[in-house]
Amino acid sequence: MDTRAPAPLLPDGIVVRPMRPDDLDDAERLSDLAFSRIDAHSTGRTPQRAAAWKARTAHLLAQDGAGCWVADRDGRMVGLAVSLRRETLWALATLAVHPDWQGRGVGHVLLQAAGTHARGALRGMISSFSDPRAVRRYRTAGFDLHPQMLLEGVVHVDGLEASRHVRDGTGGDLEWMDSLDRGLRGAGRGDDHALLRATHRSRVVDRAHRRGYAYVGEDHTVVLLAASDRRTAAELLTDAWLGAAGEVVRQPHVTAANQWALDVGLAAGLSVRTEGYLCVRGLKPPTPYLHHGSLL
Ligand SMILES: CC(C)(COP(=O)(O)OP(=O)(O)OC[C@H]1O[C@@H](n2cnc3c(N)ncnc32)[C@H](O)[C@@H]1OP(=O)(O)O)[C@@H](O)C(=O)NCCC(=O)NCCS
Repeated sequence: MDTRAPAPLLPDGIVVRPMRPDDLDDAERLSDLAFSRIDAHSTGRTPQRAAAWKARTAHLLAQDGAGCWVADRDGRMVGLAVSLRRETLWALATLAVHPDWQGRGVGHVLLQAAGTHARGALRGMISSFSDPRAVRRYRTAGFDLHPQMLLEGVVHVDGLEASRHVRDGTGGDLEWMDSLDRGLRGAGRGDDHALLRATHRSRVVDRAHRRGYAYVGEDHTVVLLAASDRRTAAELLTDAWLGAAGEVVRQPHVTAANQWALDVGLAAGLSVRTEGYLCVRGLKPPTPYLHHGSLL
């Protein structure tokens, strides 16, 4: 995986081994600690978000055991990597190292271990924070970095126009949703849809010549959106925010290839800033698309 840089020697006493189901509690705590240290405003995960992190990682461990690794020292976890393989696509869901052990090669070795799950995959995707160590790791592993934008603010619905073509998704939509994703990112999602449907509202447009879907959280954030065209994508994003009048929304993961999302955000009165990178290998940033932070 990290083809351009030879693997470093691990610091004394650290071993990298496959993740097990009984690692999930420690893995959640460690990832929360590592991520909250790079965000000065973070107060750590709420119990609900911690439970969602564990449910998603348990799902990936069950589906993609070969892509999930931990680093241990004297029986204490000091790092973890969780990745998934869907058809021709490999994606990194989480990479985190304990703050006391960062910058000493542990992340490099974990990424290489997770990368063994990518063998034969034509494409790769990672959504990265701005941590300079992460940026260095992903670029050295051959990924192209594309800045992501974040839309944020109080929603003004006066500037938004409802579409009568958006409806709730059903199990009958999954086949065309997978075809849509194959066109956009080279791979369907398989059972990841079951996980997403259990935790989010699914909204779809299914017209004769245009289709799209979005998974929407309780806070009105669109965690994933894929569409055949910009008009459909804009209808789905608008639909997600129409119930949020006067509320603050925070919509991450907008790449420059998705200017249509900026137009919807500006129409809703939101502001725009940059946050992190979409890292891609073997594909361009998908559009019209808002990628999922872990399932991409
Ligand atoms: C990103 C992370 C997983 C990397 O793990 P790590 O063990 O720290 O990484 P490594 O030591 O293998 O590699 C870090 C690289 O950055 C370099 N580095 C270390 N500190 C740095 C700094 N402050 N600025 C720039 N580069 C730095 C290292 O020299 C190394 O590069 P090299 O291998 O070319 O020498 C870890 O730092 C972390 O958990 N960060 C917080 C959470 C996060 O951002 N996760 C990734 C989000 S997708």
